[in-house]
This record gives sequence, C-alpha cells and structure tokens, in this order.
Amino acid sequence: MTLTGAVTRTDLTSRIGTEVCGVQLAELGPSGAAEVAALVAERSVVFFRDQHMTLDQQVATGRLLGQLHRFPGVKGPAGVPEEVMVIHADATSEAVPGEGWHSDVSCDERPPALSMLRIETVPPVGGDTVFASMYAAYDQLSAPLQQLVSGLTAVHSGRHAGPRYGYKDPDARYPENVHPVVRTHPVTGRKALYVNSGYTSRIVELKEAESAALLHLLFDHVANGIAWQVRLHWEPNSVALWDNRCTQHHASWDYFPATRHGYRVTTVGERPVA
Ligand code: SIN
Repeated sequence: MTLTGAVTRTDLTSRIGTEVCGVQLAELGPSGAAEVAALVAERSVVFFRDQHMTLDQQVATGRLLGQLHRFPGVKGPAGVPEEVMVIHADATSEAVPGEGWHSDVSCDERPPALSMLRIETVPPVGGDTVFASMYAAYDQLSAPLQQLVSGLTAVHSGRHAGPRYGYKDPDARYPENVHPVVRTHPVTGRKALYVNSGYTSRIVELKEAESAALLHLLFDHVANGIAWQVRLHWEPNSVALWDNRCTQHHASWDYFPATRHGYRVTTVGERPVA
C-alpha cells in the first residue's frame, strides 16, 4: 500500500484533517501502516471512507500501528476483544464516551498515541466528531504565553475524567500522572499543547487559583480555535485515525434518542517529553 496511485488524499483544512479514499486499512502491511501513521502524525487526524473491516481485522490493523492499549476501568461486553473500547449511545444513555474536549486517556504514564474509531451504526442525523490541532493550539499562543507554558507540568487524572470516560467504580485506583504542558511530538518534532479539560486537573508549579485560571484560559483557547478544528461527519464504513499526541477531539451527542455504535482501538504511546 502506498498513499499514491489510485489513492486520493484531500486535505480538509490547512492545519488539520485529511480524507483518504482508495485504501483498505484492513489490507495494510507493516510499511503501509508506517506510512499511514506518519500521515496521521503530520495531519493530526485522517478519515478513511468506504472501509470494510471486521472487529478482528480492526484489532489486527491496530496492532500493526503499535501495542494496543487496554482501557482502565472498562470491561467490554462478551465476545469483544479486551483491547477494543465499545463506543455506544442510545435512548437509554445518560452520558456518552468522548463528549467534551480531550486527548484519549492522557492520565496514563504512557498515554495513547493513535486511536482508530469505526462507527458501525451511524445515527440518522448528527453524531459528528470534532478534532482540534494541538500543534496549532501551541503555535497560536503569544510568545510570552508560549514561554510560560513550556516550563510547566500538569496532573492528568482518571478520577477527574470520571464516569463520562467509563470510570464507574468509586473505590478504584485511578491512573494519575504528571506530563509536560507542552510536549514535543516524537515523529514530527513539533511542539503541541498537552492539557485537556477531560483529564487535566492541576498545573503543578502554580498556586491553585493560578492553575485554575491558566487551565481555564487554555481550555477555552482549544474550544474556541475554530480555524484549527475539523469536523468529521460519519458515513457508514468510515474510519477515523487520530494522533492523541497532537490533537484533541469532542464527540457531539446531538442525535438523542437515536443509536450510535462503534469500536475504538488505541495504541500505547511513549512518556511525553517537553
Ligand atoms: C472517543 O473519545 O474516542 C469517542 C469519539 C467519538 O465517539 O466520536
């Protein structure tokens, strides 16, 4: 597989998001997977249309991209491999996974690198996922603010994420780790903002009120950064692959009471470095 020839590649905005047609992810070999991973690191999120893949093929494709992550605190239904996170909402749901800006499971010591989401049941309207570039989020800060945040670290906590992300056991030991507020992407070498409202609870070096105010500013910056966001409208057989080291995403729950159902696999990344 190569991303040339019969393959069409269309950038959706200048800073984030590319749509690829003419590739079957289930047929990727190791070199094709490396090519796709490099594209995702560059564009932050890539959408693949008309994908035909079983759950087992999704797991096998995920393994080509890296070691698969097991989501802490979530036990999947029988018959679904442990590395697969079921993404489901219907008329009985009180919350949906992924609502709110976040980078997947950033509370882990080695947080996820790539996530691959396939939505099998698409609601009749709505259910889009919005992605934001954390390269741009960093680049668009003023120089003095870039300098300030580049020297800081922050606590990322599973407890802070709470039941929205599947943490339902009040007695469970939740992952909690400290990561740099600005990380350097291991593939592209670019700097990316790495705090998110889903998991980040506190900036270590600041007083509590200062930490709350700065996180509020940064979370607003991400949420309001329309010029570096892209919105994926799901069609049957679409797959999204995103790089959690340089992007955040937000699932829109605007289709209630309809059903939306899909499967995510996620690769384990490296310890973030400044
Ligand atoms: C997630 O956070 O992985 C879920 C995204 C979605 O459902 O669109």
